[in-house]
Amino acid sequence: MNDFENYLFDASQTINKKLNDLLNLSYFCGRESPGLELMLEAMSYSVEGGGKRIRPFLTLEFCRMFGGNPVVALLPACAVEMVHTYSLIHDDLPCMDNDDMRRGKPSNHIKFGYANALLAGDALLTLAFEIISGDGNLTGEIKSDIIHELASAAGASGMVAGQVMDLMNEKKKADIETIGFTDRLKTGKMICAAGNIGCIIAGAGSKDLHNAHVYCENIGLAFQVVDDILDITSTKDVLGKPVGSDIENNKSTYVSLLGSDKSKIYAEELTENAVNAISGYKNSHTLIQLAHYLCNRIY
Ligand code: IPE
Ligand code: IPE
Ligand code: MG
Ligand code: MG
Ligand code: MG
Repeated sequence: MNDFENYLFDASQTINKKLNDLLNLSYFCGRESPGLELMLEAMSYSVEGGGKRIRPFLTLEFCRMFGGNPVVALLPACAVEMVHTYSLIHDDLPCMDNDDMRRGKPSNHIKFGYANALLAGDALLTLAFEIISGDGNLTGEIKSDIIHELASAAGASGMVAGQVMDLMNEKKKADIETIGFTDRLKTGKMICAAGNIGCIIAGAGSKDLHNAHVYCENIGLAFQVVDDILDITSTKDVLGKPVGSDIENNKSTYVSLLGSDKSKIYAEELTENAVNAISGYKNSHTLIQLAHYLCNRIY
């Protein structure tokens, strides 16, 4: 591992420890039930292990770059990861991508059944907002701003809209604009929210928020383009999820339209745009490295 990968690994350990504390029976003291126990098992199963923790890392690092205390951003960062993990559980369901492996293990519905997987996703989504609203380190105004940010990114005008369009793109050959629009919603919105939440906690001004947004929009789209490339070029063992899923589902993606070589060039252009948006900041080194790391990833 290089220095950046070590740094990302250390951050993911900090995030994992906090996630573990939050998905523990003791967090729900006085509210115990057999249903809660089963849900905590199913929620932890999908949250644990394997995840790259890119979104919470963005929250922590944007907070740090704009002079905030990343320790204060840790709970909201974990909330972002919970919403992301919910989206993965539902994304794998038979009625969506129908994938049987995630984060190197059988998908949630394979292990816990369709209904419990659906409910574990619901429970992670709602727990995210419970955690932010109960966070004693944030002012009411900041909590309200980040709840709005996360809810609008995840919901019917954000990630969910993108997932709906992604399913629509299975039935017809979508054009490149439609695929770009879909990916900006299904993947880009949550990545933008992750960054914006870090900025909000740091008290960043409107110009800084704008630059962060440009960075996140560009790495978000690049991230999905690379994910689509890996779906055909990588292996199940390396990715920890099935490959060939997009072809099997007859999905239109950048790769199905442009091929992997042109898609890779596009991802590189997007990465350059992202880097240019933040390179004027003196503490932008880590986020610049992240952009390159995501574009060049093989897993
Ligand atoms: C997978 O996201 C879903 C996409 C938006 C492509 P990640 O590749 O970040 O998955 P984890 O969190 O590392 O498992
Ligand atoms: C998923 O995109 C985006 C989400 C909102 C979860 P994909 O369906 O391509 O993600 P993977 O490849 O299953 O991780
Ligand atoms: Mg999908
Ligand atoms: Mg999928
Ligand atoms: Mg994919």
